[in-house]
Amino acid sequence: MDKKIEEVKAILKKYGQEQLLSNYDRLDENKKKQLLDQIMNINFDLVNSLYEKTKHEIKQGKDEITPIEYLDKYKLNEKYKYYENIGKKAIKEGKLAAVTMAGGQGTRLGHDGPKGTYDIGLESHKSLFELLADSLKEEEKKYGVIIPWFIMTSRENNKQTVEFFEKHKFFGFQKDKNIFFFIQGELPMIDTEGKILIGEDGLVKLAADGHGGIYESLVKSKMTEKMRQLGVEWVFIAGVDNCLAKMVDPVLMGIAIDKGVTVACKSVVKASPKEKVGVFCKRNGRPNVIEYTEITDEMAEARDENGELLYGESHILCNLFSVEAIERMGANPLPYHIAYKKAKYLDKDGNLVEPESPNAYKFEAFLFDAFGEVDDMAVLRVKREEEFAPVKNADSAGVDCPRTARELYKKFHKID
Ligand code: UD1
Repeated sequence: MDKKIEEVKAILKKYGQEQLLSNYDRLDENKKKQLLDQIMNINFDLVNSLYEKTKHEIKQGKDEITPIEYLDKYKLNEKYKYYENIGKKAIKEGKLAAVTMAGGQGTRLGHDGPKGTYDIGLESHKSLFELLADSLKEEEKKYGVIIPWFIMTSRENNKQTVEFFEKHKFFGFQKDKNIFFFIQGELPMIDTEGKILIGEDGLVKLAADGHGGIYESLVKSKMTEKMRQLGVEWVFIAGVDNCLAKMVDPVLMGIAIDKGVTVACKSVVKASPKEKVGVFCKRNGRPNVIEYTEITDEMAEARDENGELLYGESHILCNLFSVEAIERMGANPLPYHIAYKKAKYLDKDGNLVEPESPNAYKFEAFLFDAFGEVDDMAVLRVKREEEFAPVKNADSAGVDCPRTARELYKKFHKID
């Protein structure tokens, strides 16, 4: 331990982060060890470069944004069956797996626990996880095949998530046989001086590094290796908050296979120029998503000759990747987006500080920033009422809330 602490002190001195040990003596032996391990694992050069980024205004408008082409699932005519047959064959051959991104907590919904454990208020009181499990099991039955399910958790909610599944007997799945759990990555939070914060537990204050970390996490946790062993070639990745996510879609898969693309994404028509969704576009000629926080009013309102929004294909976080694409994307670091947040921390005297306004930077990578890695990608427009019922806000917000999701779910499943 003595040798290790000396080593850690030297690293902290080099990077000007000595504050991380200011509460060390107050920790028990176990936590002391944990803290030293955490510090040894921090990529301080990355932290420094992220801090530098916070000091420069993001240069907007440098990129050339243009509309993207898409296919409409319900205007494929005779091609519909053609793609469907290709996809069905691949699904029946066991080439598809599903991934649910469930690293978040249900805080915005006023729910104390992993978001996937949230009950949207159906008569059955099924959680988001169970609704997704139901849909996957139904598809497995339909195709007579096992579709392995991978759940991405975070360090914060992994234990609770796995316990929830255990309590519900994994909804009929078998752990490590056809359901797998893996933990997403994290990055330290820093203050406005670039100093890494100490969390309430006396350890480094870490926060989830965004869903863009999914590719690296899938590779590092050997999930892609597992997929290959199981004969999986295609992976459908969706968020846990869409209770209508259609994880098994032979038409989408058929299009990807037939067109020889490694990424195929679903879109729905943007409800209005102001809807809080990202939209598909081309950025400097490469496929990408422009977030609702980033799009200009002019772009959001622009229409084509048919009166349709020029940037109207909403990204619903329902994307299909080849395993090979995931591995490739996992090898290249993505840019981090900066969020300025309120974060509780311990000061150097061990006092808990609970700020009333934002005080710390959090860094997140977005999954769609990797789309630029591919030369071409297919976008398939599907029907909102069939595939998109997100649960993001509390009912008081009136949109993308449990009430709207429940109504869409009931309508689609013909529940009175
Ligand atoms: C997201 C998309 C937006 C899209 C909208 C559709 C981003 C940045 N934007 O917005 O383009 O139109 O969904 O509903 O994603 N998650 C993790 N770990 C993380 C971060 C997120 O597992 O570190 C999961 C969440 O549990 C959730 C999903 O990713 O299932 C979406 O993340 P969220 O941060 O809620 O994104 P939105 O702002 O809703």
